[in-house]
Formats: sequence, structure tokens, C-alpha cells
Amino acid sequence: MATLVQQPAVMECTGWDSYRLLDSGGGRKYESFGDHSFIRPEPQAMWQPRLDDWPASGEFIPGSDEDGGGRWSLEPSVPEDGWELSWNDVRFTALPTPFRHLQFFPDMSVVWDWMRGQLAGREDAETLNMFGYTGLGSLALSDHGKVTHVDASKKSVAQARENAALSGMGDRPIRWLVDDAAKFTAREVRRERRYDGIILDPPKFGRGPKNETWRLEDSLPALVSDCAKLLDEKSAFLFLTVYAVRMSSLSIAGLLNEALSGLPGKIEHGDLAVREEGAGAEDNGRLLPTAIFARWSNPGKGRRCMTHNDSLILEVADFEVDVLTGIYSEETGKPQPLRFTIQVRYDVEDRYDPDTPLDASKNYMDIKFAASEGLPKGVHFKLIEAVGDHICETLFAQDVRVQAVTVKIVKLAIAEANEKIGITLHRERPTG
Ligand SMILES: C[S@@+](CC[C@H](N)C(=O)[O-])C[C@H]1O[C@@H](n2cnc3c(N)ncnc32)[C@H](O)[C@@H]1O
Repeated sequence: MATLVQQPAVMECTGWDSYRLLDSGGGRKYESFGDHSFIRPEPQAMWQPRLDDWPASGEFIPGSDEDGGGRWSLEPSVPEDGWELSWNDVRFTALPTPFRHLQFFPDMSVVWDWMRGQLAGREDAETLNMFGYTGLGSLALSDHGKVTHVDASKKSVAQARENAALSGMGDRPIRWLVDDAAKFTAREVRRERRYDGIILDPPKFGRGPKNETWRLEDSLPALVSDCAKLLDEKSAFLFLTVYAVRMSSLSIAGLLNEALSGLPGKIEHGDLAVREEGAGAEDNGRLLPTAIFARWSNPGKGRRCMTHNDSLILEVADFEVDVLTGIYSEETGKPQPLRFTIQVRYDVEDRYDPDTPLDASKNYMDIKFAASEGLPKGVHFKLIEAVGDHICETLFAQDVRVQAVTVKIVKLAIAEANEKIGITLHRERPTG
């Protein structure tokens, strides 16, 4: 039975080239994100700042209510599309968001290190990153094997994929899923899946892709209980963080202790905190708490075999569409009849059960759309290659799960004796 270590611990995040906590105090913090420094609200910094001056590229001015609202005041030097930062081999785009942060949570770096430590020496692990946001944790875990990344926000998952491409990790075995954390976990329990490690970084309040409500105090116990069913005596860890909620780490450790009572290993808990490292902090940089955590680790972990290496292709074959293209359209002024066969390779689930929902599949109408209404009206494509190119790009933009597209086009108007003249364009989703 897992042992609960009662004494709380501090997991300390120290800065790195792309991130440092330079100072804090007076309800604010002063941090560097590569070449840019910012000031953000920080209610836990009740002490006085050490430095007299905080020269910054921007500041987040909070709204009047405690829970949100407010706006950034940014210098023109801050790139509108963000800028590249890195953590070890993971590269990603930093960008100030309306939610006060910069598209990543730097204090989590100590957790990424810890998880990597739990999987040291392994390349066959299967891990689950729930509420994975822009994917830094998933990319860190992907050094050790397959990762399932779940987040409710399509935009965040798309950003996570972009970070993967930026890191040169576009071909890592990561399943990027837009899904509701609770529903996905419940499905995995029904499929009797097992993971070597799970990380849960839930918000206080959130919404699933179908508007499912996530309210931490109400939803966490069931989620933790389901996650426990995805672990066994061979698993290595579960890591849970909670922030912006009035709750003690002892309480979330108690929750893990109950859910994981049947497993070996130990449960620890405490604060995640960032160490100040700016000028003048050399001897006594203060520790700024950012979240509470509870974690389960199992030193007796064993290896688990990976079983799946599937791929899945949706095909719509031999459908005809008239398109303004080629010499035919140039000479006649009319659209040319083309016959399309389109294949889309997309992310495959590990299993398809009788109750796997429709949205785990891709709609064939998306393919027909890309080759008809998805083509711009009135535009003459000189080459049918350009038609194929447009269709590929539409399908990639439409759905982050699409990994590759093959478009076969046959020109029906120019055949003399039923021969089939045309092209086949195959494109993999760009990785960089
Ligand atoms: C605090 S962020 C996670 C940060 C991330 N672990 C990291 O280190 O970068 C919370 C994430 O939870 C997602 N989310 C909110 N409600 C959700 C739900 N019901 N199911 C899945 N994800 C949800 C949000 O889209 C957001 O990306």
C-alpha cells in the first residue's frame, strides 16, 4: 500500500536561459522570458521588492475582479506573433495571452525534470498528459516513449503541435487529442488501458470541447479515482498540481492516498515554488510559491510492453467536381470535370469500442468540402497540382489530427480512349 509522507516538501524551480524570476513584491512579480522582461500580478508576493526599478517590455494590468480580467500594456518591441524560447531540447513560442501568462508555465519545469527522472533510462514508457495546454510537458515526456496529450482547447493543441514542429519533434509518438479530460479518462478506464505515468494540471474552472463543465473541487475526486485505475504496480508516477484554489497540499495528497491505496510506492506533497535570481538575489533569493502538488512515485516500477503501432486512413474515392483549371478552362472559360480520390491519414485511437463517440473519427464530408466549396470561387488554377495543394492545406488547417493527405486527380475532359490522365499529390503535415 502506498505510504503517505506527511511532511510537506518544496519543489523548487530555478531559472534557465529562457526564464528567470528577477524580483517580486508588492503583489507583483518581475520575470525575464528570453530577451523580454514582464511584470505580472502575483498576490502571494506580499513582501517588498528588492530592486528599485523593474524595466520591462510589458506589464499585465489586472481588472478589478480577483479572478480574471485585465489587459497587457506592451512595448512595441514585443513581437506580435511571439518569440522562440527553449527548455533543454524543447523549443516553443512565448506570447502574452489575455490570461496573464505567456503560453507556458515556467514553474512546471521542475515537474518535467522530476517526471523525466522517474522514467530515466526508458524509451518504452506510455504516459498521459492531461490538461496538456501547449505541450511542453508532453514534449519533455516524449523522450521516454509514447505520450497521449489531452486538452479541451483546439487552439492549445494546435499550438502544442507547432511547438513540437519547432522542436524538431513533429515525428515523436504523441497522440494530440482535443477532448474532455474526465470523459477521455472514463473511456480509457473502460478500455482497461494502463499508463506508466500520468500528469494532471487542471485549472480551477474549465470547459470541455462540448462545453462540459470542469470545476476543480467537484470534478477532481472522480478524475483522480479514474486515473488510479489506469495505473498498476508497474507504473512509475502520477503528478497532480492545483493552483488558484484555497486548498492545502495535504488535502490533494489525501485524495491520491485514497485512490491509490492498492498500489505500492509513496505519496508526497507540498508547494511548487520559483527561486528569485535577479541582481542582488545571490545569497537569499526568495521562494515564490506558485502551486500545490501531490505526487505518487513507485520505485518498483517495471516495464510495460507497447502493443499498438496502427495507422488509420479515411478515403473518399472517385467523386467528380468541376474546377476552373488547366488549358481546358483557359480555352473554354468553363470549369473542367475532375475525378478525385482523396485519402487522409489521421491520429488513431488505441482502441475503438462500441461506445467510442463519433468525434473520434473524421467526417468524410470534410474531404468532399476541401475539394469543392473549400476551393476559392472564380480562381483559375493553372495547374491541377495547385488544386491538390489547396486541398491538402485545407485539410491540415481544418483538423489538427490530420497527419498526411493524398490527392489523386484525373482529368476527365481530355481522355481520348478512356485512359486516365492525372496526378497524385501526397503531402505529410509540415513539421517545421
Ligand atoms: C493550466 S493549463 C495546463 C498547463 C500545462 N499543463 C502546462 O504545463 O503548460 C489548463 C488547461 O486545461 C484545459 N482544460 C480546461 N478544461 C478542460 C477539460 N474539461 N478537459 C480537458 N482540458 C481542459 C485548458 O484548455 C488549458 O489548456
